[in-house]
Amino acid sequence: MTTPTPPLAELLDRGAAFLLRHGVPPDEARAQTELLAGEVLRLPPLTLTLHRAERPSPEAVAALRAMLLRRARGEPLQYILGRWPFHDVTLRVTPAALIPRPETEGLVERVLAHPRWRDARVVTDVGTGTGAIALALAHAAARQGLGKTFLAIDLSPAALALARQNAADLRLGVTFLQADGLSSLPPASCDLIVSNPPYIPSAQVDALPAHIRDHEPRLALDGGPDGLDVIRQLILDATLALRPGGCLFLEIGEDQGLAVRRLLDRAGYTAVAVARDLAGHDRYAEGALP
Ligand SMILES: C[S@@+](CC[C@H](N)C(=O)[O-])C[C@H]1O[C@@H](n2cnc3c(N)ncnc32)[C@H](O)[C@@H]1O
Repeated sequence: MTTPTPPLAELLDRGAAFLLRHGVPPDEARAQTELLAGEVLRLPPLTLTLHRAERPSPEAVAALRAMLLRRARGEPLQYILGRWPFHDVTLRVTPAALIPRPETEGLVERVLAHPRWRDARVVTDVGTGTGAIALALAHAAARQGLGKTFLAIDLSPAALALARQNAADLRLGVTFLQADGLSSLPPASCDLIVSNPPYIPSAQVDALPAHIRDHEPRLALDGGPDGLDVIRQLILDATLALRPGGCLFLEIGEDQGLAVRRLLDRAGYTAVAVARDLAGHDRYAEGALP
């Protein structure tokens, strides 16, 4: 005779306690357990409470246990779930690319609110990773009935393969290109260039929390000795790739506002601005070509 599996309520309590013992913060352990249980049971996490008394199948219990073990070993929740919402789209996420962050949704919002958004014909996302920025913008353009061409560039073939899959899932038309920054674009070919480039100084990458350092691609994080290697190059190359009046939008590190403002000023951009994220940190920089 097989012993019955515990009721869902007990599994959730045990799962949260297990994650807590393995260093997941108290305010996240319960929510993460519920997200994993929701994934296994194919139920929206908010409805789990309606099923508290039910006993999941032994297969479901084993699947949840395996996921909790991966999480306890430090793997990010998003990679275990395999998909994650970003702005108005849901993306596949794998260790091939950075997990899209809420701050980057703020970058998308800045582009959508910009006066040049509506009439821009060619929009380029540099360092596309999962495709997050290009796909969120392409989704918004489709909803607004705006015809635009979207180009998404990355140096990493693995990230591009994932981004292509996301574009196919979402049925959004984006052209993907493997290249080093803007180096292979014809002059004056873009109206808007958007990028969340790697911007963490190399020496700080090793000091990042293990769930980031050991699981997300170093190419997505490491911005060179002062974190500005890719940003510096983008600011210069965008002066060629943008059409007159075109705009560059960047996500930056919280202590890079002053340096990036200077780089934009020196490269001849107008309407240079640095803006803060919801936490009050300098996070976005932008400029327009005269
Ligand atoms: C911080 S991640 C951003 C990913 C995605 N745009 C997002 O916001 O979630 C930076 C991305 O830039 C790519 N990358 C790094 N250096 C690059 C370069 N020189 N040219 C093109 N892409 C680059 C990395 O592979 C990575 O996908």
